[in-house]
Amino acid sequence: MSDFLWWRDGVIYQIYPRSFADTNGDGLGDLAGIIAHLDYLADLGIDAIWFSPIYPSPDKDFGYDVSDYVDIDARFGTLADFDRLVAEAHHRGIRVIMDMVMNHTSNQHPWFRESCSSRSNPKRDWYIWKDPVISDRPPSFISKMISPQRPPNNWQASFGGRAWEYDSLTGQYYLHLFTKEQPDMNWRHPAVRQVQLEAFRFWMERGVDGFRLDVFNAYFKHADFPNNPAKLGLRGFDRQRHIYDIDQPEMLPLLQELRQLLDSYPERYAVGETYFASPEKTISYCGPDRLHAAFSFDFTSMPLLYPWNARWIMRRISGREAAFNTANVWPTTVLSNHDLPRAASRYARGENDEQSRIAMALLLTLRGTPFMYYGEEIGMRDIHLRRSEILDPPGKKYWPLYKGRDGCRSPMQWDAGMNAGFSSARPWLPVHPDYLTRNVAAQRADPGSLFNFTRDLLHLRKEYPALQTGDFFPLRASQGMLAYLRRTDTQSILVAVNFTAHSVKLDAPAGSWEECFSSIKDGQKPLAHLLPHEVRLLLDNT
Ligand code: NOJ
Repeated sequence: MSDFLWWRDGVIYQIYPRSFADTNGDGLGDLAGIIAHLDYLADLGIDAIWFSPIYPSPDKDFGYDVSDYVDIDARFGTLADFDRLVAEAHHRGIRVIMDMVMNHTSNQHPWFRESCSSRSNPKRDWYIWKDPVISDRPPSFISKMISPQRPPNNWQASFGGRAWEYDSLTGQYYLHLFTKEQPDMNWRHPAVRQVQLEAFRFWMERGVDGFRLDVFNAYFKHADFPNNPAKLGLRGFDRQRHIYDIDQPEMLPLLQELRQLLDSYPERYAVGETYFASPEKTISYCGPDRLHAAFSFDFTSMPLLYPWNARWIMRRISGREAAFNTANVWPTTVLSNHDLPRAASRYARGENDEQSRIAMALLLTLRGTPFMYYGEEIGMRDIHLRRSEILDPPGKKYWPLYKGRDGCRSPMQWDAGMNAGFSSARPWLPVHPDYLTRNVAAQRADPGSLFNFTRDLLHLRKEYPALQTGDFFPLRASQGMLAYLRRTDTQSILVAVNFTAHSVKLDAPAGSWEECFSSIKDGQKPLAHLLPHEVRLLLDNT
């Protein structure tokens, strides 16, 4: 019997549904578009897909403002389409992961509309309402003009401004850690807990295999709502230590309850998006009675802080290895997602894919479940938008200091046809101009492309358990070369990557090493040297 565990040993592919494939000609991707490309994904060699939210949403935060947790947004399709998608994915051995955005709802969710309607509404306490603060000191003329009401504490919204919005109808403030259209739920209310856990059950009954929990460690806030202490930072949000608005101890019993629910179905999975993730914090939420995994985002910092070289990467790997190994928690590896500039935009120069191959090799061979972001397999780059084209709320607020997240959400580049084969209509975001040459069809036909490199490595990963569950042993991180071992009791694989444009010496430890993969297919390769920018994997045959 195989002991393959899909969420630990497999590769998870994130689809941003509105940008993957549009079949009904409205410029927005849909479920039918995903179904049409399941064969592509199966051939690529991934094991599971995670969809960014596909629930009904007014799209103030592009699906991360949910107005119904148990339905599909009509622009994406219907529940029947979703059932078909799950069946078709399972038929190809692909698992399905839903994005659960339960820290907050949309302000258009019927629960919030009810909650807003009066202070005595039964759903009032499903959200976090507080009275304005009455100050001993009379407000100055200016502060009265700007804001006649004083919010309950100093908390800031992560997308800018105060985390409190005043509702003049009922004379109280409600809390929103993101936009004001995303009111935070009150997870201390038993009915909220119950109805949200039922949503997990609803999707598991439809065959969903796992869940990604959006900012789960923000569900609970300190019961007394104290002010957060100050620290240095650029924006108001960064100038606070977030100790009272996230990471409260009440989260652990909730995770235990959730885990029991998941474990009442076979092989279900939950991965948390740790808000302000360090390996240590991430680990504290994982375990046999908690989440299966959570993100620690070890390789996603911006190039200014993250010099993209062998030494820095090895330092990050060693940090997380030490923490995750001690705790016996399985790590995840992420280089790109819908909130970050794409890895290729961070580390590659121009249209050159040499560094993207290295990034892909790290993603697929480090110890931990790889999360691949749609288009990463062809090295998609971020699009650049003019200010007037920006859609993302934090981008609108902070331009030009921060241009938001639209850049990494552009339409998938399938071919060199109209709109990159994504849609027959004008796409909701522009297609990257490099699509004429950078697209799936072109790269499939090119044996040396990043796509074929990725596909080959994904298939190799399936063959070698050491690349899935093997322990990690660092070998070298110097002179532009990173080398490490992945080892089980019966198999040893050496992974070596050359970041530089010149050959570097490769000293393999004792053993009978034989090449099982290289980014450089032809030509004579010196065994003791890596060629410029080469990625090479060696298998120990002793
Ligand atoms: C984290 C998600 O990844 C991000 O896209 C979203 O804007 C916030 N949570 C709010 O839901």
